Amino acid sequence: ARVDKAGHKHFMAKEIAEQPTVIAQTVQRYLGAEDNAITLPDDSLDFNTISRLSLVACGTAYFACLTAKYWFERLAGIPVDVDVASEFRYREPPIPAGTLALFVSQSGETADTLAALRYCKGRAARIASVVNVPESSIARESDLCLPTLAGTEIGVASTKAFTCQLTVLLLLALRAASDRGRLDEARKVELLDGLRALPNTLNRALDVSSTLEDIAQDLAEAQDILFLGRGLMYPLALEGALKLKEISYIHAEAYASGELKHGPIALIDTHMPVVVFAPHDALFDKSVSNMQEVMARGGKVVFVTDRKGWAAGQEGVWRHAIMPDVDPILAPILYAIPAQLLAYHTAVAKGTDVDQPRNLAKSVTVE
Ligand code: G6P
Repeated sequence: ARVDKAGHKHFMAKEIAEQPTVIAQTVQRYLGAEDNAITLPDDSLDFNTISRLSLVACGTAYFACLTAKYWFERLAGIPVDVDVASEFRYREPPIPAGTLALFVSQSGETADTLAALRYCKGRAARIASVVNVPESSIARESDLCLPTLAGTEIGVASTKAFTCQLTVLLLLALRAASDRGRLDEARKVELLDGLRALPNTLNRALDVSSTLEDIAQDLAEAQDILFLGRGLMYPLALEGALKLKEISYIHAEAYASGELKHGPIALIDTHMPVVVFAPHDALFDKSVSNMQEVMARGGKVVFVTDRKGWAAGQEGVWRHAIMPDVDPILAPILYAIPAQLLAYHTAVAKGTDVDQPRNLAKSVTVE
């Protein structure tokens, strides 16, 4: 079927707006409406037989993997390694028995990711993948393929495929936690209900678009932008910086907030916008003190938080956007929306080719 922009100015805008729908589809694929069983495409995977996870991907999918590390370790107690495929494949890492190697890819055709999969297959690891194109090479060569139901993604900068990857990875981490008896029933129900409610929550995040568009007019003037986050918001900060540089061509980088003092703080001056993703979670006070270090040096903070976070941390902040409340475990999926919208509106303000940014390809099938 031909895909059109459905009234949006760019495919990227359309794909951002589709997220509530495609995430609902993806959740429904794995989770019944009534029972709280997480169903995988086949039943052969028992996480009690898995002692270690190796997650491998490129680009945006790699940041989905970095997020999943926090989930698998915290919820399921499984040690996780995460690698970009181009490094993994040539490092010749040992693959101990009990490893589940998990490859994440929108296209299912990224050359480095496919080569990394074949490397692991040759060393008797169990192979699973999270892929958006079910007929792809990575899907076909996996023992277990977990589809994302994002639909066709046209914009080179990945948006809905990323949040669908996060959704599947979280469901898988919850399944692992449950298999291993690490998740009590009440907490499981709370998180699964949170996932079922997510489309609605995402719609409310999309309502903040005009605020982010406004902030983007100022970001478009910047030479460099720093993104900060802690815990689950750190990989999201990395993704926010990637999105921004891909389509607006503004130099952006991301740091774990706690690492600020080990280098990037030297860059802070009155010209430097610093985007901080900080919902009111267990690490919030630490994020605020990092933010204060930035503001004390004249840095201009864009504070992306929730109502409680805004009430507690607003002093001295330059610009802000307030997200709906969500369980901290689900926050990366929700905060992807403002990360994407900041990049999108900044690129539009700069007049770049949003859907086809220079030098980039949607799918990198050669090395
Ligand atoms: C390219 C695309 C990115 C994507 C990456 C990995 O660089 O421009 O948007 O994240 O490839 O692609 P994959 O299809 O494996 O997810």
